[in-house]
Amino acid sequence: MSVSLINGSYIVAGLLFILALAGLSRHESSMRGNILGAIGMALAIFFVVLGVMLGTYEGAGTEPSDMAAHTAQATVSQAAPPWAIGIIVVALAAGAVAGVLRAKRVEMTGMPELIALFHSFVGAAAVLVGWVTYFEMAVSGHFDGLHSGELFIGVFIGAVTFTGSIIAYLKLSARMPSKPLMLPAHNLLNLAAIAAFLVLTVLFVLMPEGMAGLGLLVAVTVLALLLGLHLVASIGGGDMPVVISMLNSYSGWAAAASGFTLDNNLLIITGALVGSSGAYLSFIMCKAMNRNFISVIAGGFGGEGAASGEEKDYGEHREVSAAEAADMLANSTSVIITPGYGMAVAQAQSAVADHTAKLRAKGVRVRFGIHPVAGRLPGHMNVLLAEAKVPYDIVLEMDEINDDFADTDMVLVIGANDTVNPAAAEDPSSPIAGMPVLEVWNAGQVIVFKRSMATGYAGVQNPLFFKDNAAMLFGDAKERVEDIVRVL
Ligand code: TAP
Repeated sequence: MSVSLINGSYIVAGLLFILALAGLSRHESSMRGNILGAIGMALAIFFVVLGVMLGTYEGAGTEPSDMAAHTAQATVSQAAPPWAIGIIVVALAAGAVAGVLRAKRVEMTGMPELIALFHSFVGAAAVLVGWVTYFEMAVSGHFDGLHSGELFIGVFIGAVTFTGSIIAYLKLSARMPSKPLMLPAHNLLNLAAIAAFLVLTVLFVLMPEGMAGLGLLVAVTVLALLLGLHLVASIGGGDMPVVISMLNSYSGWAAAASGFTLDNNLLIITGALVGSSGAYLSFIMCKAMNRNFISVIAGGFGGEGAASGEEKDYGEHREVSAAEAADMLANSTSVIITPGYGMAVAQAQSAVADHTAKLRAKGVRVRFGIHPVAGRLPGHMNVLLAEAKVPYDIVLEMDEINDDFADTDMVLVIGANDTVNPAAAEDPSSPIAGMPVLEVWNAGQVIVFKRSMATGYAGVQNPLFFKDNAAMLFGDAKERVEDIVRVL
């Protein structure tokens, strides 16, 4: 198959990916964005596989039979032998079946860990591509500095992404405590690893061949695997969202590095799109959480004061029943709902939407305040509320609504905890100190829907629950909201 045809299909796929990203930037167009991305990926896979099966040849008049002259170029290749085609078909089928089964079974609340696992695959693939390319170079005896550098960087980023994502997966799925690992001088360790990587890269570019080259490649792989483990293990629970988007970005750069190694333009374009959009998302999240972007990349934040706040005695909390809550709501003129992870766990979004419609029908002004890291993945709450058909114009971001709490009669905190924790604003020793939160306590009355007095994801006690104007409505969020709807 002609190289120009393949490159043409790559450009179309690349454009579809860009349109997909544009579509994903707004609720209304997100479905279209998803579909465009899926079409782009299907097109890309189809042409990559076809190119491998049929072989690629370059330029007008050049026939596949002339290809031996071009074998040094990765974009020009002979048709794969039947056994290789068999392996590709089996791998594609196995990947597709595993992907469909997993995606059908995954709960919305399990998405972040699934994404973390996907990132680890991208990282592992980048490491394998680097290693295989190195062996190819060793067999052909054809080493060049630029290619060696690309390969080495790809292996490094891939290995960091691989182990970092596995730790993120273990932490997000509660298979490992979310508490940060605090080795002495952990920031220095990370910086020393990055400095060692730079030195190893220079050495590898200068002498990629023989045992020296092989030794350097082993060294960078081990170094990067350990660095990935340490970077993510030393991040505190409350700061995991930024880490997820950072790993997303790393996985993109790992794919782009593989693209350079394999001379594949589409992998370079796609990797760069994922890498840069992930980096930008991390930047936005860092700003939203008042964290330093550079220290996130260097893995040095989120651990200080991890246990503080938990032993403090905040006094007694007050409880209300669903009937009392309904009564208070019926007498309110303005209500803000701040949903969190618990709404997702309880699958309470439709009940919340019914409840909102009921209150609005009674003339109550109802709005939603969404914290940028509420839930377990960016936009988690927005997706759930959109699914339940809550009108977009009453769903506001934290910055848009935070000044309005003081003029609001009632706030319903539905399954949120860390994102409404006043300690972030008031207690400099708290692990989430400095993170902007929804200032719900400024409202007239706050009702917190949760099942117990347990802490949220960051593992910190929430003084909001003990404030005079706050009351707890215990139980599953969906059941309690339905109870209120019945009374209303
Ligand atoms: P959290 O602080 O995790 O609190 C959720 C609360 O929901 C819990 O305290 C839990 O209390 C309650 N809950 C759980 N199931 C419930 C149910 N069925 N019915 C009623 N309540 C239920 O949630 P948040 O305020 O949304 O904050 C998100 C946290 O996750 C932040 O710390 C954030 O940094 C972190 N995080 C976010 C992301 C992204 S990207 N958004 C990714 C990873 C981590 P009970 O157990 O007492 O019911």
